[in-house]
This record gives sequence, C-alpha cells and structure tokens, in this order.
Amino acid sequence: MSDMNISYDEKTRIFKLDTARTSYLIGIVDDEGFIGHVYYGKIISDSSASYLMRTGEAPFVPSQNSRDRSSFFDAFPMEFPSCNTGDYRESAIELLDARGHNGVEIVYQAHRILKGKPGLSGLPATFGGETECMTLEIDGMDKVLGLKVTLRYSIFEDVDVVARSVSVKNMSEESFFLTRLMSASIDMDQEDYRLLTLHGSWARERHMESREIGCGKTSVGSTRGESSHQEHPFMALVSETAAQERGSVYGFHFIYSGNFIAQVERTQFDSLRVQMGIHPKNFCYQVKPGEVFQAPEVILTYSDEGLGGMSRTLHDLYRNHLIRSPYKDKKRPILINNWEATYFNFNTEKLLDIAREARKAGIEMLVMDDGWFGRRNDDNTSLGDWKVNEEKLKGGLKPLVDQVNRIGLKFGIWFEPEMVSPDSDLYRTHPDWAIAIPGRTPCRSRNQFVLDLTRREVLEYVYNSVAEVLHSANIEYVKWDMNRQLTDLGSLYLGRENQGELSHRYVLAVYELQERLIKEFPDLLLENCSGGGARFDPGMLYYSPQIWCSDDTDAIERLVIQEGTALIYPLSAIGAHVSDCPNHTVGRSTPFSTRGNVALAGTFGYELDITKISEEDKAQIPEQVALYHRYNDLVREGDYYRIASYRQNHFYDCWAVVSKDKKEALVTFVQVLRRPNHHSRMIKLKGLNPEMRYKVCEGTNPDEGVGCVYYGDTLMNAGIPMEEMWGDCQSRLIFLAAEGSGV
Ligand code: DGJ
Repeated sequence: MSDMNISYDEKTRIFKLDTARTSYLIGIVDDEGFIGHVYYGKIISDSSASYLMRTGEAPFVPSQNSRDRSSFFDAFPMEFPSCNTGDYRESAIELLDARGHNGVEIVYQAHRILKGKPGLSGLPATFGGETECMTLEIDGMDKVLGLKVTLRYSIFEDVDVVARSVSVKNMSEESFFLTRLMSASIDMDQEDYRLLTLHGSWARERHMESREIGCGKTSVGSTRGESSHQEHPFMALVSETAAQERGSVYGFHFIYSGNFIAQVERTQFDSLRVQMGIHPKNFCYQVKPGEVFQAPEVILTYSDEGLGGMSRTLHDLYRNHLIRSPYKDKKRPILINNWEATYFNFNTEKLLDIAREARKAGIEMLVMDDGWFGRRNDDNTSLGDWKVNEEKLKGGLKPLVDQVNRIGLKFGIWFEPEMVSPDSDLYRTHPDWAIAIPGRTPCRSRNQFVLDLTRREVLEYVYNSVAEVLHSANIEYVKWDMNRQLTDLGSLYLGRENQGELSHRYVLAVYELQERLIKEFPDLLLENCSGGGARFDPGMLYYSPQIWCSDDTDAIERLVIQEGTALIYPLSAIGAHVSDCPNHTVGRSTPFSTRGNVALAGTFGYELDITKISEEDKAQIPEQVALYHRYNDLVREGDYYRIASYRQNHFYDCWAVVSKDKKEALVTFVQVLRRPNHHSRMIKLKGLNPEMRYKVCEGTNPDEGVGCVYYGDTLMNAGIPMEEMWGDCQSRLIFLAAEGSGV
C-alpha cells in the first residue's frame, strides 16, 4: 500500500496530497470558486479540514458579505494570490494587459489527478515514473482577461516533497505581458519561525544565516542572471525550538539557474505569505494569444526531524528524481585539475609531467583548465575563439589526449562557452553578439562580455564550437564555467517589446545548450562551475551530476561552505579538491590529510602541481585514493548527518554519512583549533541502528585499529571520545561497521 496519495473530496471540495509524513491541502470556496490554501505540514488524517481556511469567521466570504470584499481578500489564505483586487499582500501574478491594466483574479475551473509527472518544456524539473509519483493539476481562470492558470503539484512515493509549478495560457485575442509570476506561494500562520537562507560571495558561497521574520517583507534574491554567489534560491522556515534532528522545518528550493526571489511577508494578522519564483526585476514577458508561459519548479518539503530531516529528503530527491547523468550512481574518476597548478602557464610537456606523476599516485583523470585556446595566456583575451593554441599544445589537442590516455588517465577539458572577450576574433567579427544596450559601453567583468544566447546563430556557434572540440579527441569530462554575471540587459536580436525576456531566455538557452551536449555525448561527465559556485543550483544538477562548489579550496573555509551546501545538496554533487598550501585564496596552511578528509565529503580530486609538492604530501595521495575507493559508495549514497558545526562552536566540525541499511557509517571530525588543557570531546553519533553493534575503527582497513565494539544506542546517546590532536586543523576519519554485516 503506497504512502503517496492525492484525493479530492467532492463534498468539502478539498484536495489532499499525502506523502509518507506530510499533507498538503487545497480548498475551493463554494460559490466564489477561490482556490484557498488549507494546510501544509506534518501528516493529518482529515480531508475535510476546510475550517482551516477560516471562511466561517468575519469578514466572511464575499457572497455573504460583499461590502467587506477587500477585508476578505486581504486575509484569506490564497493558493495563488491574485493582484489588484483587494489583497494587498504580495501577488503571485502581475501583468500588463492590452489596455495597460494590471488586475488578475483567478477562480477554480477544473482539475486532473495524474499518475506520474509531466515534464516542464525547456526547463529542468524533478521526474519519476507512474508508480513513483502523482500529479494534481488545477486549472484556474480569469474570465475578464481570458487567462488560464494551471497549478501543478507532484508528490513522490519515497520522499516528503511537493514539487510545485505554474503555467499561464493566454486564451484571449490580445497579448499580455507578465511582470511577475511566482512558482509557489503559501499562506500560513507565523508560529515561531525564523528564516534560514544561504548567502555569500566569491570564495565564500552558501554560508548559513538565520534571522527573525519581522513584519513586512523579507527577501533574498538574484538579479545577476544566474543563481549567484551572493544569495541562494533556497529558504527555510525553521521553528525557533528546532534543532539539527528535531522540530519543524519548511524548505523551499527553486529549480532554476537565473534571477530569483525568495520572500516571506509577515502580515498585520501575523500570517506569513511565502513566495518563490523568477525575480520580477527586469522581467516582462510577452505571452501572445494561444501561447503558454511555463514557470520553473519549486520544491517544498516539510520535516519534523529538524534541518537534518530536510537535508536527507532533498538529498534523496535530487539523487533519485533530478540528476540524470549516467555518473549519478557511479564513482567519478579521481581527477587532477591544472588550474591552481599552472594557471595559464602550461604546455603539453607540463601537462604530461603532471599526468605521469598523477598516474603513479592512483589519480584517474587529467583536466586541462582555462588557457588552452586562442591566445589565452591571461584572462584578458580569446573567449569565444575555441581553437587550440598550438604554441602551448604542439601538434594540437588529439596528440595530447592520446598521450594522456596512453599514460593511463582519462582526459577532461574546460570551457566558458557563454562568454566573449573584447579581444577575440569572435568579438571583432560579431560585436553585436554580446549582450549590450545600444549606445552604452557595456560593463566589463574579468574583461569579458556575455554572449546573447537568445540569438539562434549565437547559440549554434557556441554549441558547434564546443562539440567540434569534443569530437576532435577522446574527451570524457567537461568543466563548464561562467565567470561573470549579466549586466547591460539589451539584446540586438529581441524586439522592443521583448527586452524584458532576455534574462529568462538566456537561462533557457543555457539549458538548451547543455541538453544538446548531454544528448550528443551521453557518456560525458559534465561538471558545472561559475567562478566557483555561483551557479550551484538544482537547475544545473539536471544537466550535470556535480558542480564545482567554490574557488576557495582551503580546508577550513570549505567546512563552512560545504556545511551550507550539504544542507540541501547530496555530497555526490559537491565538487571538492585537495589543493596546495599555503592556500591560494586565504594563505592558510593545513595538513594534507585534513585537505583530503574534507574533499572526501565531495566528488574528490586534486588541484595542485603534483610534480612540485613535497614528497611527504605526495606520499599521502595513494592513501587518500584508497580512502576514496573504500568510502565513496557510502559517501555518495548514504544519509548525511551533521553532528557539530565549526561555524557555530568555533573549534571543531563533525559530520557522518550512514548507509541506508545502517550497517556502515563514516564520521569525519575536524579539530580546527586545538584547545589546551582539555579532555576529549564526546561526539554523539546520529542515524545508527540503536540495536546494532558497531566495530569502531580508523583508516582504510576496517580490521585495522578496531578499538572497540559498541551498540548504536551507546554511540548515539553517550558518544565516542575524540581526543585532542596536536596542532590546529587536524582531522580524523572514524569508520563504523555493524558486527556480522560482513563489512
Ligand atoms: C573559475 C573556476 O572556478 C576556476 O576553477 C577556474 O576554472 C577559473 N575560472 C578559470 O578561469
């Protein structure tokens, strides 16, 4: 018997969507046809709970009390709030109709309950088969405008998630211009929720921040053309009393890689209106008669097991229902990337030297980063000229790749396909291909411009440039980078009425490019990247199973960045490498072993000149490679538990990954600061089976260093001691294997 169900009660006119542990209820108000939000949260049994909409209280519904229609609208919990007809809270939709008016009022028209989940045309979205998910579609209509809105809700058999999206169809004879369309809007009571968001900057992505929800509107967003380093398309309402493994958490995550807004509005009645969608700034999208505009998907999840419950749900959702790559369930080749090793200063010999040493240490793939094309000897030139620089790579790319393959490594390559350097043949030939406002000198960033991908010929040029290189040699991995954000939003291709579509069309074009790429090269391992992690979002995960997390590779900085990232993304998606010290971003020196242990909580790889590092460090690489091979299945597929946070305690960090059958666990402990004159810390583990007995050991071989055997409840309730290690930035890996599990 499935836990997932969608029902419609004809009598009460309530839709009820149930997952194993959550319920989502929507109600239709009699006579009026308004679509109300009834409930979202921990599972409830009644499908007749329309009292939750409070229509039996003053000011009553307009059919009973039309003089106070505005009072009703301004308080009623709307499922998809209209605009300019009495509800002064934020609208889910705004537009300019043919007469220049902005008024929308949606009432229920029809619904369908479907097995499975339809895809969203041109957009990334979660997916699942007919036995894995169900979908409710509710059509609403504004008869005055001739506008049909379809609200879509999908639920899943295996995760407590509601995936919500909306499309708008123009059924009239005239165009209208959408100026705001939220993919999800929820009205709920403010109890004791705080707002948790992820914010940052270059080299400081996804730091967790929690704040009180004051009256009025509080939002985070991006208007930079990508999801951005600065804010993240995620927010959570976290009960004040919630902790890592207990208490109420509502998570909202946007499957989109462009401009977004995530907003909470606390109203005069102490209710909250929570919204997520494309940022309305610079958004003005023409919908012609008969056309449909599809908004991206928002993931809603409720956990009564604190932040940890939300993390594990999102990890499972993305691993099972979003990432499509054939690498999703596989160990990725351990790569060595030459960026921090050489920057732009390399040639075939240098790369082959790196490859030979890497091979000896057990590394499996060489990735050639920026600088292999045009005259790209620094970051001022040649983006767009995707022709091999034969001064650096004598004889071209194929001989290099063949030699790397002969050494025994796979080969990967870097591109930044969306960009053009002013100093490039491409720009000299097609200056009009860059995004710019005519008459203005466009703003340079890293001395480059962004290509206008809304133009078909530009998109074709970009795609063919990349594909040609990939066809020219045995290239098995691509790092797709984007090193600047959008400004000067003007397209010489789009008409006057369509300039407000540029940012969204740009994102759709990136999706189209990557979709074509993975279709034409189905075995390619694609890693997205944007000046580090500025486009680390669920949208990109639909195309690539991993994303470069941050340009900050310092192991200690990474603790905070990876904590924020792992809050909502599976470890299998987090690009993490061991780099050289002093660290190139912060100048800190940390033990090689700690850099390795932190990178093991991601895709794992190296970003250093292996021909130059100390023999002592180099000698550790084969050990780390062995750790990766021993533990990566567990790290990739297991359940993630956050045990302690250096961000909060300022001394140490600790997390664990527990296998789904609870027979294995890997605990990573990082002592950032040594505390003098201090006894061992008792670390209470999480997620184990209280009744299983676990062997506790360190290192690659579980039979080595078995200190003791304890029940799961002892390890979770009493804990295991972590003795102070000598010096700062030290770390330990502890492996637990259930007795008799054969591990
Ligand atoms: C930014 C990336 O995050 C780096 O890893 C590197 O690829 C540079 N771009 C190259 O320009």
